[in-house]
Amino acid sequence: MSLADGYSAKRLSIARMPAQRVQTDGPLASMLDQYRGGTRGPHWHSDWAWENYEPLTLALAQHFGLKRLLEVGGGRDPGFLEIGRKAGLEVIVNDIDPRELALLPPGTPTAQFDVAGDLRGRPDLVEAFDLMTARMVFEHIHDVEQAWKNIHRMLRPGGIGMAFFPTLYSWPFLINKLLPPETAKAIVERFFPNRAADGDNPVFPALYDWCYGSETKLKRMLDPIGYSEMALLPFWGHRYLDRVPVARELDHLANRASSALDIRALTTYAVVILRK
Ligand SMILES: C[S@@+](CC[C@H](N)C(=O)[O-])C[C@H]1O[C@@H](n2cnc3c(N)ncnc32)[C@H](O)[C@@H]1O
Repeated sequence: MSLADGYSAKRLSIARMPAQRVQTDGPLASMLDQYRGGTRGPHWHSDWAWENYEPLTLALAQHFGLKRLLEVGGGRDPGFLEIGRKAGLEVIVNDIDPRELALLPPGTPTAQFDVAGDLRGRPDLVEAFDLMTARMVFEHIHDVEQAWKNIHRMLRPGGIGMAFFPTLYSWPFLINKLLPPETAKAIVERFFPNRAADGDNPVFPALYDWCYGSETKLKRMLDPIGYSEMALLPFWGHRYLDRVPVARELDHLANRASSALDIRALTTYAVVILRK
């Protein structure tokens, strides 16, 4: 995860705000509205995304009858191996880096490839999966448009591709993008020791290609690919200032106001869900 580790720090008390309706019509949008309506808010805060990303994925699998899940960029610490299997799914872990996959428990089904790479020589991947999910991976991908094209090709008809990623131009990720990669890495490792290369959650260079919280912007790139439905869940707020009183409160107020005004240029995270 790039700078995303503040999540585990102390929880702020955040006023509830009404859930924003998913801005599309169709089976995916109505399922998401129903799911969000049954969960505790505030729905605008990124805490909701961290808490609900895995349960929402499983709920989508159940709702749409999806069985074969590929965790894209699952790395050494995939989220769905156990909970996916318990839910009756077949779970396969992908990563670009074979060294990450080598750290998984022996016998774990894996698929090593670059999700944004040239996969024309891999007919075995065509319509091979029902559900493809990527958490904190898209900010590291050099060509996100190609990744969504490849995911479309790898999904069976009716399948779902989803990605949860940090977004520009929120200040933590803007700074991360502007700093030289080695400086950004050193700062994260200084504050979060488990983010060192030999820790359980190392820092990977972040590029933020197409990492935005605006449907309008993303639709320009995604519409031509041919997905039948798209939903984007925008989030504001983060945990990087949890140990910095006053700045934490001011930043929280700014995020709350940005969400109330629906300022998409200042989202901190987004979940994009696409149905083939
Ligand atoms: C920050 S880690 C996230 C790991 C896991 N998804 C999680 O949430 O803990 C990013 C992972 O994405 C992998 N990755 C980066 N670019 C990739 C690509 N183009 N294709 C597949 N995996 C990629 C990295 O090797 C790394 O394991």
